[in-house]
Formats: sequence, C-alpha cells, structure tokens
Amino acid sequence: MEYRRLGRTGLQVSAIALGSWATIGERLNDDASSALVAHAYDLGVTYFDTAETYADGRSEEVLGAALKRLRAPRESFVVSGKVFYGTHGRRPGSWGLSRKHIVEGCHATLRRTGLDHLDILLCHRFDPDVPLEETVRAMSDLVTRGDILYWGTSEWTVTQVAEARDIARARGHAPPQVEQLLYNVLERDKVEREFAPAAEGLGIGLTIWSPLAYGLLSGRYDHGVPADGRLARAGYEWLSASVFGTDPREETHRRLAAFSRLAAEHTVSPSRLALAWVLRHPAVASAICGASRPEHLSDNAGALDVVPLLDRTLLARIDALLGMPEPPPPRTEDKETTR
Ligand SMILES: NC(=O)c1ccc[n+]([C@@H]2O[C@H](COP(=O)([O-])OP(=O)(O)OC[C@H]3O[C@@H](n4cnc5c(N)ncnc54)[C@H](OP(=O)(O)O)[C@@H]3O)[C@@H](O)[C@H]2O)c1
Repeated sequence: MEYRRLGRTGLQVSAIALGSWATIGERLNDDASSALVAHAYDLGVTYFDTAETYADGRSEEVLGAALKRLRAPRESFVVSGKVFYGTHGRRPGSWGLSRKHIVEGCHATLRRTGLDHLDILLCHRFDPDVPLEETVRAMSDLVTRGDILYWGTSEWTVTQVAEARDIARARGHAPPQVEQLLYNVLERDKVEREFAPAAEGLGIGLTIWSPLAYGLLSGRYDHGVPADGRLARAGYEWLSASVFGTDPREETHRRLAAFSRLAAEHTVSPSRLALAWVLRHPAVASAICGASRPEHLSDNAGALDVVPLLDRTLLARIDALLGMPEPPPPRTEDKETTR
C-alpha cells in the first residue's frame, strides 16, 4: 500500500480506501462487513469512508462495530463521515447544512460508529438554503471541540469551496481541506478541468469516489448487467438510469469489453487498470473503492503496481477505445518523458 498526504494537512491516507455505500450494513451483514474491513486493513487500507445517509445510519453502525472488532489502535486508521442528507427522509431540521443539523448529525454519527472523533467530516452536498457563514462556523466549531479533526466538502464547485475558504480566513475559522468527488475513466471532467488545477491554490486535497464506475469497469458488465451486480439490485434503478442514460446499452457494454481486452493484453485485471488510471493522477490522494467481496479488495490492492504501465501510449489507447477526445499534443519539453 502507498500512503499519501491529504492536501496541505499532515494527515496520511492510504491511496486505496474502503467505502461503505451500498455494501457495509446494507448488502453485507455484520459478519461479512467485519470480514471485509479486516481484509482491507490486512492489505494496508487504513482509510474508511461512510456517511449518515448510507443505509440510514446502519452503515455507520456496522463500520464502527467492524473497526472495533479489529482491535486496532485508533491512530492506525482514518474515518471520514458525511453530513447533509440525514437519515430516514427529510424532516425540517433533520438534514442540510444548518448549524443544527451539522452538530446533531455529527454527534449522531459519533454515537452510531462508537468513535470519539471523526478524522474527517464532509458536507455531502452544498446547501443553497443555509448561509455559507453558518456552515463554515459550525464545521469549524466541531474542529475546535475535537469532534472532528478536518472538514471538507463533496461535490461542491470550485467557487463554493473558495468562498468557504475565504470566509474561514476572514473570521479565523478552520477552512475546508478536502473535496471528495467522482472520478474514473468514464467521468473525468470535474477533476481534470476544475478541481485538479485549483486544488493547490484552494489548499485542499482530493479524494475520489466510484473509481470503478460502480463496478462497470471491473469486467463484470462487459456483456450485460450481471445478476449479482449493484445495477441489477432493487432500489438502484435510478443509478442504472443515470449510468446508461440515453445511450444504447450495447455500445456501453462494447466499450467496457474493449477496456477489459486492453487490460488482458497487459495481463492485469480491468479493475486494477481502472484504479491505476485514477491513482496515476498526482492530485488524487486516495481512491475510495467499494467492494462486496474480500476478493475484490485483493484484486484492487494490486492497482498501485499497474500505475507505472500507464505511459502516454497506453493512456491514448484507453481514450481511443472509450471514445474520449484526444489529449492535447505534448509540449516540446514533455516529449522525452513517458507520462
Ligand atoms: N461523496 C459522494 O457523493 C459519494 C458518492 C458515491 C460513493 N461515495 C463513496 O465512494 C465509495 C465507493 O463507491 P463505489 O462503491 O461506487 O465504488 P466503485 O469502486 O466504483 O464500485 C464498487 C463496486 O464495484 C464492484 N467491484 C469492486 N472491485 C471489484 C473487483 N475487483 N472485481 C469485480 N467487481 C468489483 C463491486 O460491485 P458489486 O457491489 O455490484 O459486487 C463493488 O461494490 C462508496 O462506498 C462511498 O464511501 C461517495
């Protein structure tokens, strides 16, 4: 495993993290979740991500119990939580980024996980109905109280993060220090065009979610949607609709199969190639993966060995087979380098 510094913080996170959406405490029961977390930890994964909304808080409970069963020193792992969506639907005061929900939501997460602090708390989305000053102050106060060590955002815009940082600077509050956003071979723009160029100036580190595009890039979706895959599960019809959009599904499966063949040519699994593609980006501190079986983690943990294979030629072949626009030609001084 490799450990990377999260932006300008002193916090080290494992380059591959384990997320808990749709798996821990939902599809996986307590024992299966514990086995998954223990396997991740054995592989060197020390960063675990959850959110109040995952399985309506159950994911936090099961992740917390699994971490307790590890009997690992608290300083040996990092946990991030997320506040915004609440649990069990939206009632007034029970969701959003008001001071009320941030403080109560954070304390509920601490109770459910059984942890006495979260390493990172993220605002899961931007809340246009709450003054940003109120949100920044509430997050900063949680830092001052020691309930959380760092705070950040998820799927905000660069402008929103910059405004939060400016407010924090002007008022002497703790600023946001991490953004968690979607990034994978199929969904690149927000990281590559917006956040990666701005991250250093904003003083934030980037962690990314769904690096395998919910499993699409694992090879299991090359000839259709597998019966045991997330996209076939009841309750995830919205995800399937969003992934396939209005494109003909056959075309998506054809591209995924071509990606798998390219991985096989290099004798690596498609999941490793897809994860390596994300981890090659210097702005990415950690790729937060999901897994429904321990074998997924064993496979994915090998992705860091694949990063050196991603030279300019292989990157261009990936873009071509996925129908991505050609990258700009290399500048003169880049011509001698391979990536
Ligand atoms: N901030 C946000 O808004 C946000 C949004 C979404 C997710 N997240 C975080 O990001 C985490 C990861 O998201 P994700 O679960 O969508 O990530 P992902 O890594 O793109 O997909 C994980 C799924 O891919 C399949 N898979 C993984 N490795 C595999 C392998 N080696 N071989 C075959 N199949 C494999 C499994 O699918 P099956 O389960 O179908 O078997 C697994 O559950 C979440 O758990 C959550 O913590 C954050």
